[in-house]
Amino acid sequence: MATVSLHHVAKIFGAFNAVQDLSLEIADCEFLVLLGPSGCGKTTTMRMIAGLEDPTAGDILIDGARVNDRPARDRDLAMVFQNYGLYPHMTVAQNIGYPLKVRGLPRAERETRVKAAAARVELSSLLDRRPAELSGGQRQRVALARAVVRTPRLFLMDEPLSNLDAKLRTSMRAQLKHLQRDLATTTIYVTHDQTEAMTLADRIVVMKDGRIQQSGTPAEIYARPGNIFVAGFVGSPPMNLLAGTVSDGRFSHDAGSMVLAGHSGPVVLGVRPEDVSVVGADEGDLRGRVYSSELLGDSVLLGITVGNDLVNVKVGPEGGRAIGSEIAIRLNPAKLHVFHHDTGLRLAEAGQ
Ligand SMILES: Nc1ncnc2c1ncn2[C@@H]1O[C@H](COP(=O)(O)OP(=O)(O)OP(=O)(O)O)[C@@H](O)[C@H]1O
Ligand SMILES: [Mg+2]
Repeated sequence: MATVSLHHVAKIFGAFNAVQDLSLEIADCEFLVLLGPSGCGKTTTMRMIAGLEDPTAGDILIDGARVNDRPARDRDLAMVFQNYGLYPHMTVAQNIGYPLKVRGLPRAERETRVKAAAARVELSSLLDRRPAELSGGQRQRVALARAVVRTPRLFLMDEPLSNLDAKLRTSMRAQLKHLQRDLATTTIYVTHDQTEAMTLADRIVVMKDGRIQQSGTPAEIYARPGNIFVAGFVGSPPMNLLAGTVSDGRFSHDAGSMVLAGHSGPVVLGVRPEDVSVVGADEGDLRGRVYSSELLGDSVLLGITVGNDLVNVKVGPEGGRAIGSEIAIRLNPAKLHVFHHDTGLRLAEAGQ
């Protein structure tokens, strides 16, 4: 069990700022997810916590002790690397059991633990293979089994499910969450998949260009994204973002207007696909034309051209529409998000 603190941590490669002024407190037993697009500095942050990369500036503390100068092997953590990091000359069983061997556990106990860890990730039949004889998803599971074969102070996981097929990924996701609760081990988990972040995290830290954009529970990040980037990154399909102007309590867009109190001037209005309804052509706030209509099973996703924007609308399974039909949309006034047009920052709701 461990707490982790990052104080103004930065990493510069040559002249490139990969991570900038990153400060973060991770609580004991917390499942923290670093979420962000490719290249935003997630792996670099993990490698600094692991001790595989030296920070250019700032301090890293584990359980309150500064570890900047402590080598990786003395930090008592288990890391699942994005590229697996398996030993090619060892079998699956030897790879999984390696952390136990270097700690000097007796052979019999090692074998028992390796079998249990392999069973957790459905690898029991592959224990004698070498990494070169495995698929990407199988290698990823070996790396996971190697991490959970013992109970370190801290788990660091870098996209550990990215190479699994959809079915295995969903089942491994549930298992990982369960396992983390069972072992009560502080976990830092990196992903660019917002669904994975939403389902696994106690808390999500959204990153972009080496900087933290927002930190909060999945529900907070979803309900109150702090800026346009987070609004567009979290949610599937993402939040609709419509640029327009507010004057005299009305938001005006090329395709119509609607009441919007408490703001004035140019803004970006955000609304999630499930908070938009489709109404008759003469009834709604904004006029549009159906561009696409996709049945997803339990719902229909409509793409609606509204002025120069394409608005995604999620409706019930019977809500399909003919492509090309003229309709109007109504935005749920209780579920609107308003952002500053230039800074992209969330603006306070009226009355707050
Ligand atoms: N050793 C290095 N030398 C120079 N630049 C590097 C090095 N390692 C990473 N970078 C750069 O730093 C930035 C952050 O890289 P990082 O691997 O942390 O991204 P990431 O968020 O993990 O992305 P991905 O989701 O693609 O894995 C990238 O622009 C990358 O090109
Ligand atoms: Mg990475």
